Amino acid sequence: MFFKRLLVVLIATIFSYLVHADQFINFHSPDGNIQLGLDSHDNGDLVYRIFYKGKIVIAPSGLGFKLKVPDVSLLKFTLVAADSSAVDETWKPVWGEQSSVRNNYKQLVLKLNERSGSGITINIIFRVFNDGVGFRYEFPKQDKLNHFVIADELTQFAVSGDHKAFWIPGDYDTNEYAYYTTNLSAIDATGGGKAQEISAKTFFEKNAVQTPLMMKSNDGLYINIHEAALVNYPAMNLVIDKSSFTFNAHLVPDAVGNKAYLQTPAVTPWRTIIVSDKATDILSSKMVLNLNEPSTIADPSWIKPQKMVGVWWEMHVGKSSWDYSGSQVGSQQASKVPHGANTANVKRYIDFAAKNGIEGVLVEGWNTGWEDWFGQWKEDVFDFVTPYPDFNVNELSAYAKAKGVKIIMHHETSASVTNYERWMDTAYRFMKKYGYDAVKTGYVGRIIPRGEHHDGQWMIRHYERVAKKTAGYHIMVDMHEPVRPTGLQRTYPNWLASEAARGNEFNAWSVGNMPDHETILPFTRLMGGPMDYTPGIFKIKMSYYDSGKKEQVHTTLAKQLALYITMYSPLQMAADLPENYETKMDAFQFIKDVAVDWDDTKILDAEPGDYIIIARKAKGKDSWFMGAITDENARNFTPGLDFLDAGKKYVVTIYRDGDKADWKNNPEEYVIEKFIVDAKTKLRLKLAPGGGTAVSLMPATADEAKQIKKYK
Ligand code: NOJ
Ligand code: CA
Repeated sequence: MFFKRLLVVLIATIFSYLVHADQFINFHSPDGNIQLGLDSHDNGDLVYRIFYKGKIVIAPSGLGFKLKVPDVSLLKFTLVAADSSAVDETWKPVWGEQSSVRNNYKQLVLKLNERSGSGITINIIFRVFNDGVGFRYEFPKQDKLNHFVIADELTQFAVSGDHKAFWIPGDYDTNEYAYYTTNLSAIDATGGGKAQEISAKTFFEKNAVQTPLMMKSNDGLYINIHEAALVNYPAMNLVIDKSSFTFNAHLVPDAVGNKAYLQTPAVTPWRTIIVSDKATDILSSKMVLNLNEPSTIADPSWIKPQKMVGVWWEMHVGKSSWDYSGSQVGSQQASKVPHGANTANVKRYIDFAAKNGIEGVLVEGWNTGWEDWFGQWKEDVFDFVTPYPDFNVNELSAYAKAKGVKIIMHHETSASVTNYERWMDTAYRFMKKYGYDAVKTGYVGRIIPRGEHHDGQWMIRHYERVAKKTAGYHIMVDMHEPVRPTGLQRTYPNWLASEAARGNEFNAWSVGNMPDHETILPFTRLMGGPMDYTPGIFKIKMSYYDSGKKEQVHTTLAKQLALYITMYSPLQMAADLPENYETKMDAFQFIKDVAVDWDDTKILDAEPGDYIIIARKAKGKDSWFMGAITDENARNFTPGLDFLDAGKKYVVTIYRDGDKADWKNNPEEYVIEKFIVDAKTKLRLKLAPGGGTAVSLMPATADEAKQIKKYK
């Protein structure tokens, strides 16, 4: 049963008391490893601190706001009360990395009076979990504060050491940057401005980075800072003061420079600090999800985790175009290529999907407007209901239906969001009429209303509106170029995935993603939610399409398979062209078999920037899948299989790098091996530079147990 609370232990207010001047409160996680300290000083200063097993995570750091309307700083407070409570419950997500999630924390609510005479009161709510701390500001309904405008949020995160960090430049419009791995003292976001391959970016400060920000301290702590439940509020960037290694929150402004318009009662998103001495604990943390509200969808039976193919990669590699006239994006239109989304070609993808048990076929470039969409900042580009003359919407709907496949709608908005807002209902009704139940949206370019940003309050409200409105039509959604996720997939489980980072597509037409990219993303971008990364590229080098091209995917073929496990998403694309799979159906078998929804997940080993190895159990089945990936270095792993049912035999299929494989010179060499294993087996996996291994483990039939040789 969906979202049924299995166990709720709510120890209501344990203590609530009047606190006097110079108060210090210490508060611990349920297991005692995390300590939150709050110092409320006589002079009105309020700071918080966080320790993990006695080691400092956050040194004393400030809390508060500068309001523009009314013109008052919320920085000096009198602590009126501190109420504590605890929760230990288990809930079931509609889909996810595990079929049930434990939500266990202790909560502390500080009730504060602003001291300068404004009469304003605010609450700060802290939740201390075993894997981190979340806190949010609450503005209760009150006489002295109704409508208000935030000029700045003054939250600080004093990480207090020159940690190693995995970061991308602070920006108001994009998260499609390549990652930098440097110490905090070497952060310099100006380099991001050179990323010419990103269509809309807004640099604002050289010391700024984005969240989720992953750090590793010299004393071995893994620290991740992000936010949860970003609703009706701008996204938060972080600006570092290098003299003290203190991050200051920097909210994305609107067109006139304000940050947020709120009305009491109101809450901010949660600020999250996840911490552990084990990297694997960061990847298994469910804190961001737990800080989001339960699902708003009472009957989610129409929401289906799924795989898709698409008339898509062929445009990215330059074989065909979105544009009916055959012009390619950004080119001088010297050479024309065929229009991709034509009826015959779409049928070819439907056939391939039907034959291989793939549920969805994404079709981009099916509708008019692509002549004009790129870089113009033009308002009325697409209407989302007018197909090109060679895309027969009736015929294709009938064809897909007969084959048991769903066509996935594409709504590129070209960031003209005012226009999209006007068309949304009409477009979703059109989808329903033709049997589409999933849409990929896109926001390439500068936002309209002009002056707004992808990550500002106006757009945050838009993405949420899309999630709600599509849910009303029983439509699933995958957003490209939105804000980075903050766990809202719990509240809106029809919001299957987002891009919101540098996807595989960059490998087709830019310097691409370096071999460590996919070992960083799960520690950064994916901390907020699933990514539509589009793995499964088998033709690694773009010279295959055009001998003059130097671009390539920066992985081996086997690593592309392992990504289906290491990059969690309930929506996974088999991104390459059917004809590229058809010559390698033995390797494609892994993509056919791999699940997209899970009962359980084991993070077996991981180090950000270096490697990740994960095993997952398919939902409702007795089969497991494993993915291991490495950066540019070759690596060996010897994972045990003790998660398997004891005493039972399984067929393991290992899809590995060939002995001479490497991402640069020999990326497509792979080997597939089958053995019988059990829970006592230890596998020996050898990963090539930039390589990976994908593994499936299925219960063995009696015949298989006899005929297939034992793993030795
Ligand atoms: C960028 C998206 O990330 C990509 O997947 C899509 O094909 C293009 N925009 C065109 O909408
Ligand atoms: Ca994109």
